[in-house]
Amino acid sequence: MVGSRRHLPGFQFLLLLPFLASFLLQLESKCQNGCDLALGSYYVSPNYNLSYIAGFFNLSDTDVLRYNPSIPNTQYIQAGSRANVSFPCDCINSDFLGHVFSYVTLPNDTYRKIATDYYANLTTAAWLAKFNSYNSTQIPDGATINVTVNCSCGNESVSRDYGLFETYPLRPGENLSTVAAQFELSSKEDLLREYNPGVNFSAGEGIVFIPTKDPNGSYRPFLSSTGISRAAIAGISIAVIVLLVLAICLYVGVYRRRKAKRVALLPSLSEGAVSLYNSPADTPRTGTQPAGITVDKSVEFSYEELAKATDDFSMANKIGEGGFGAVYYAELRGEKAAIKKMDMQATQEFLAELKVLTHVHHLNLVRLIGYCIEGSLFLVYEFIENGNLSQHLRGSARDPLPWAARVQIALDSARGLEYIHEHTVPVYIHRDIKSANILIDKNFHGKVADFGLTKLTEFGSTSLPTRLVGTFGYMPPEYAQYGDVSPKVDVFAFGVVLYELISAKEAIVKTNEFVTESKGLVALFEDALDQPDPKEDLRKLIDPKLGESYPIDSVLKMAQLARACTQANPQLRPSMRSIVVALMTLSSTAEDWDMGSFYDDQALVNLMAGR
Ligand SMILES: Nc1ncnc2c1ncn2[C@@H]1O[C@H](COP(=O)(O)OP(=O)(O)OP(=O)(O)O)[C@@H](O)[C@H]1O
Ligand SMILES: *[C@@H]1O[C@H](CO)[C@@H](O)[C@H](O)[C@H]1NC(C)=O
Ligand SMILES: *[C@@H]1O[C@H](CO)[C@@H](O)[C@H](O)[C@H]1NC(C)=O
Ligand SMILES: *[C@@H]1O[C@H](CO)[C@@H](O)[C@H](O)[C@H]1NC(C)=O
Ligand SMILES: *[C@@H]1O[C@H](CO)[C@@H](O)[C@H](O)[C@H]1NC(C)=O
Ligand SMILES: *[C@@H]1O[C@H](CO)[C@@H](O)[C@H](O)[C@H]1NC(C)=O
Ligand SMILES: *[C@@H]1O[C@H](CO)[C@@H](O)[C@H](O)[C@H]1NC(C)=O
Ligand SMILES: *[C@@H]1O[C@H](CO)[C@@H](O)[C@H](O)[C@H]1NC(C)=O
Ligand SMILES: *[C@@H]1O[C@H](CO)[C@@H](O)[C@H](O)[C@H]1NC(C)=O
Ligand SMILES: *[C@@H]1O[C@H](CO)[C@@H](O)[C@H](O)[C@H]1NC(C)=O
Ligand SMILES: *[C@@H]1O[C@H](CO)[C@@H](O)[C@H](O)[C@H]1NC(C)=O
Ligand SMILES: *[C@@H]1O[C@H](CO)[C@@H](O)[C@H](O)[C@H]1NC(C)=O
Ligand SMILES: *[C@@H]1O[C@H](CO)[C@@H](O)[C@H](O)[C@H]1NC(C)=O
Repeated sequence: MVGSRRHLPGFQFLLLLPFLASFLLQLESKCQNGCDLALGSYYVSPNYNLSYIAGFFNLSDTDVLRYNPSIPNTQYIQAGSRANVSFPCDCINSDFLGHVFSYVTLPNDTYRKIATDYYANLTTAAWLAKFNSYNSTQIPDGATINVTVNCSCGNESVSRDYGLFETYPLRPGENLSTVAAQFELSSKEDLLREYNPGVNFSAGEGIVFIPTKDPNGSYRPFLSSTGISRAAIAGISIAVIVLLVLAICLYVGVYRRRKAKRVALLPSLSEGAVSLYNSPADTPRTGTQPAGITVDKSVEFSYEELAKATDDFSMANKIGEGGFGAVYYAELRGEKAAIKKMDMQATQEFLAELKVLTHVHHLNLVRLIGYCIEGSLFLVYEFIENGNLSQHLRGSARDPLPWAARVQIALDSARGLEYIHEHTVPVYIHRDIKSANILIDKNFHGKVADFGLTKLTEFGSTSLPTRLVGTFGYMPPEYAQYGDVSPKVDVFAFGVVLYELISAKEAIVKTNEFVTESKGLVALFEDALDQPDPKEDLRKLIDPKLGESYPIDSVLKMAQLARACTQANPQLRPSMRSIVVALMTLSSTAEDWDMGSFYDDQALVNLMAGR
C-alpha cells in the first residue's frame, strides 16, 4: 500500500506529458488544419448585384444562392442588406485561418478601396499590404492581388457544438445585442464574446466570428483536427525528451522533499462523501491558508480530464438539458459523475462561492464535486442513477412510483431544503425547486439538485435570465410580481411539487386540448379542496397510475400540506422545518399502508403497526 503510493507522483507526472507536449505544439504552430467551409457576411453597397459580388469570391451563381436561401435570384439585391459568401477556411503559414482570393485590379485601385468597397471590409488595407509585394500607392492596372480573408472553424474549449462560422465585419451602430439578435443568438451573447475575446462589438469596425447554421437550419458540430503533421511529430518528440528530463529532476528534487508532507493530488471522488455533515463554516472562503491549496486542487478539473470522461461531450453521453446548459454522463477517476456545461464565464466571487458549495454535504442534496473553468464553466456533480422526479411521474419509460415512495421523496427533498435554509453558512435559497430538479437515487430516495446555482447567477452573467430565476408554475406571487426573495419562495415551489406527487400533472395544466387555456396546479387543487367533500374531488386529481393503491387520508393530508405551502401570503407558509416534521408523520403511516397493499393481509399490517 505504502509502496504503491510512493511511486504515484512520478507516475502522474508522466501522464501529464501528452498535454504538455500538445501545449508546446500549439505554441509552435497556431493552426494545423482548416475546415472545408466558412462564410463571409458581405454588406451590399448600392448598385451591386449578387453575380458581381460572386465574382470577387470566385463563386458561381448556384454556389452563392445555396448560402443565401432568402435571396430568390442573383439579378437584384437590396443595398444595405447582407449576403453570405462561402469559401474554404485554410490554415495559412501554420499561423492563422483564412482564405486567399485573387483579385485583378482596375485602374486606380488601392488596398483601401479593395478592402472597403470590393471586399466589404472582410479584410483591411493593412492586411492586404502584408500579402502583396506592390507599394500601396502604386498598384499596377490588371495586377493579381492576394486578398486574404480571415475565418474560424470553431474552438474546442469554447464549445464543440459549433463548427461553421461567419466572418462578420462590424458596422457603425451595431453592438453585441444587435449582432446576436441577427443570428438568433440573443441568449448566447457570452458565447459570442468567448469566440471573439477582446473585441469591442460597438466599435463600428473590425471583424468578428459568429457561429452559423448550415442552410438546412442546423449547427455543424466542431470537428477536431486529426492529422498530425511532421512538424507536430518533431514537436512531440522534443517535448517528450525535455519533459522526461524535467520529470526526473522533479522526481529527485521536489518529491523527495514532499514525501513527509504527502499531499493528495488525485483525491477519490467518494472522499468527503463519507463525512455527511461537513459544515462549510470551517472552510476558508478564500484560498489564503496553506490548506486552501489542497482544497482547490481537489475540486478543480482540467478540460482534458472532463472531455475524456465524457467521450468528448458526445451526444451519447448527454443526459439532460436544463435552463443553464446541457448535462453529460461521465466516468471520472473511476466513478460516475454528471457534468453540467454552462455557457457562461466565472468571476472571482463566483469561484469563491463555488468552492464553498463543494463543501456543502447532505444526504438529500446532490453533491457538487468540483468544477472546471476552461472555455465554458463546467460543474461536476455526483451522478444520481435514477433520473429526475418529473421523468418518474410523467415519463412512459418508468414504472409508476408507489405512494410510499412518493411520500419518501417528499420527505427527502424537504430535508435537503431544510438543510440549505437553516444549517449551511451562508444559508441558501434554492429559487428553482421543481420536479426536474429533484433527482432519484437507486434506492428511490430524493436528492435536491442545483442548489446554490441561482446565487451564482448574481455574480453577473448576461447570458442567463435576469435576476428573476425560476420556472413558471412554481413561482409564488410575491416573487413573480416584485422579485421578493425569501426561503418561502422555495416553500411555495415545494408545495407545487407535493401536488405533482399526488397528481403526476405538470405545474401548469392545459385545461383544454387546444392549448389556449391553462391553469396552475395550485388553483386546480384549491378548487377541489374547497368542496364540501374534498376527498371526492381529490380522487379525480390523483395520478391514475396509482390505481386504487393509495390511502386517501394520507393523500388528503399531503394535499392540505401542499395547500399550506402555496398560500399567497408568504408569512403564513410553514417553514421547511415544520414541513419535515409533518412529512415524517405522514411517512410512518404511509409505510403501514403500503405493507397492506403488498401483503394484503390486514392482520399482519395491524400487527406491524402495533394496533
Ligand atoms: N447529478 C446528476 N445525476 C444524474 N442526472 C442528472 C444530474 N444532474 C442533472 N441530471 C439530469 O439532467 C437534467 C437537466 O439538469 P439541469 O439541472 O441542468 O436542468 P433542469 O433542472 O431541468 O433545469 P434548470 O437548469 O433550469 O434547473 C436533470 O433533469 C436530470 O435528468
Ligand atoms: C451587376 O453589377 C455590375 C456592376 O455594378 C454591372 O456591371 C452588371 O451589369 C450588373 N449585372 C446585372 C445582371 O445587373
Ligand atoms: C475558381 O474556382 C474554380 C472552380 O470553381 C477553380 O478551378 C479555380 O482554380 C478557382 N480560381 C481561384 C483563383 O481560386
Ligand atoms: C446567410 O446565412 C445565414 C445562416 O445560414 C442565414 O440565416 C441567412 O438568412 C443567410 N442570408 C441570406 C441573405 O440568405
Ligand atoms: C485614375 O486617376 C487618374 C488621375 O487621378 C484619372 O485621370 C483617371 O481618370 C482615373 N481612372 C479611373 C478609371 O478612375
Ligand atoms: C467599410 O468600412 C468603411 C470605414 O469604416 C466604410 O466607410 C465603408 O462603408 C465600409 N464598407 C462596407 C461595404 O461596409
Ligand atoms: C487576421 O488574423 C490575423 C491573425 O490573427 C490578424 O493579425 C489580422 O489582423 C486579421 N486580419 C483582419 C483583417 O482582421
Ligand atoms: C501572392 O501570394 C503568392 C504566394 O504567397 C506570392 O507568390 C505572390 O507574389 C503574391 N502576390 C503579390 C502581388 O504579392
Ligand atoms: C512607395 O511609394 C512611395 C511614393 O512613391 C515611396 O515614397 C515609398 O518609398 C515607396 N515604398 C516602398 C516600400 O517601396
Ligand atoms: C445596441 O444597439 C441598439 C440599436 O442601435 C440599442 O437599442 C441598444 O441599446 C444597444 N445596446 C447596447 C448594449 O449598446
Ligand atoms: C467600444 O467602441 C465604442 C465606439 O468606438 C466606444 O464608444 C466604447 O467606449 C468602446 N468600448 C470599450 C469597452 O472599449
Ligand atoms: C445539414 O447539412 C449538413 C451538411 O451541409 C449535414 O452534415 C447535416 O447532417 C445536415 N443536418 C440535417 C439535420 O439535415
Ligand atoms: C480558444 O478559446 C480559449 C479560451 O477561450 C483561448 O484561450 C484559445 O486561445 C482559443 N483558441 C483559438 C484557436 O482561438
